[in-house]
Amino acid sequence: MTPSNVKATLSFSDNSPSIELPIYKGTMGPDVIDIRKLYGQTGKFTYDPGFMSTASCNSAITYIDGDKGELLYRGYSIYELAQNADFIETCYVLLRGDLPKKQQKQEFANIIAKHTMVPEQMQFFFQGFRHDAHPMAILTAAVGALSAFYHDSPNTNDPYHRDVSAIRIIAKLPTLVSMIYKHSVSQPFVYPRNDLSYSANFMRMMFANPCEEYWIRDVLVRALDRILILHADHEQNASTSTVRLAGSSGANPFACIAAGIACLWGPAHGGANEASLNMLEEIGSPNKIREFIKQVKNKNSGVKLMGFGHRVYKNYDPRAKLMRETCHEVLGELGLCDDPLFKLAIELEKIALEDEYFVSRKLYPNVDFYSGIVQRALGIPTSMFTCIFAMARTVGWIAQWSEMISEPEQKIGRPRQLFIGHALRATK
Ligand code: ACO
Repeated sequence: MTPSNVKATLSFSDNSPSIELPIYKGTMGPDVIDIRKLYGQTGKFTYDPGFMSTASCNSAITYIDGDKGELLYRGYSIYELAQNADFIETCYVLLRGDLPKKQQKQEFANIIAKHTMVPEQMQFFFQGFRHDAHPMAILTAAVGALSAFYHDSPNTNDPYHRDVSAIRIIAKLPTLVSMIYKHSVSQPFVYPRNDLSYSANFMRMMFANPCEEYWIRDVLVRALDRILILHADHEQNASTSTVRLAGSSGANPFACIAAGIACLWGPAHGGANEASLNMLEEIGSPNKIREFIKQVKNKNSGVKLMGFGHRVYKNYDPRAKLMRETCHEVLGELGLCDDPLFKLAIELEKIALEDEYFVSRKLYPNVDFYSGIVQRALGIPTSMFTCIFAMARTVGWIAQWSEMISEPEQKIGRPRQLFIGHALRATK
């Protein structure tokens, strides 16, 4: 953090003494006013539910310019990464800071591959769940359960231990997610194959069975890889902030990631990809779009255009553009160019982007608007969509968790409150 020459002065209308607050500059983005000493100096807190104006940390991992619609991982544009890198390289970028050289990538991919199996006891854990349990409920529990296994790397203050945990979590998520799917369709679990790429291995664990191998199609594997790249990190969103807050107490990393998964599940966050596809199916036909938009604009209806809008993007989400492109590629490969849901989504986007309600509020498609269509084309059932998001975001969560712990000034997260309940009163 670079101190700015400019300082902020906070003054009060009741003649309390004013105070001066330092300002820091980041590499890009808005400056921040440092209010850490505010309470000590004035006896007052700041009030910012929803963190509309609060930077909860400093970070060197991901940067979003919401007005330009730009997303950078460690300074690399998401467009370039999506076109020139694969998910393993993206993980390396987020965790280690730079794109890997060829040998570094090979070594990193090998380490990840060595950790793809989950403890054998985990298969019994799944049997406690009904087959129709929501996949995100099982994923939250399964990742939390992993915290019971790894006693060789418990010291979160040791960078090596943190790295071991990071590798394990990234490597095991595809195995767990595919086990959840297999459980839901009453098929045997398929063990990982470490000679395959991260995404190809996942597709095989999902769709092979003991009677039939899965035919790996490069375009489909590449599409999944792109979904993973686009969802890998997104600075201090709700689930990432959850992981950081959980980790700030020194909690076990698997438990912290489980907390992030729980947060991601909500329909206002990662659950939007599932909700967005369900919405398209409910609309059903282009001639129902206008009626649906009318409902969305009616604040009493409680209906939202899922996959639209974002706290930070006030322009087209760059990930949505890439996802729409991937839709074309995948549907083309599968001979589904006339997919009615895709056509409906394009029409819905067009109508919304011309509508004053969406224009004036700067509401654009976000990544979830198109990702469901791609996932459905890959054969992934709707209820599993958010698990795929979790699998991708795990690397971002763990990179952010590790960054937080290595921060010398790291403290347990503990927000304050404006108390509006009863003052002290007697029981009788
Ligand atoms: N449909 C209809 N109206 C919307 C939508 C939407 N999808 N999104 C925002 N608005 C409206 C709000 O009602 C509000 O209107 P008002 O000013 O008249 O009150 C205005 O736009 C501003 O929206 P907020 O809700 O204040 O924006 P916020 O930053 O709090 O919320 C959020 C962002 C949660 C993403 C919201 O846009 C939303 O619910 N979108 C639908 C769910 C979704 O797609 N989530 C995925 C987010 S991306 C991700 O997690 C990967």
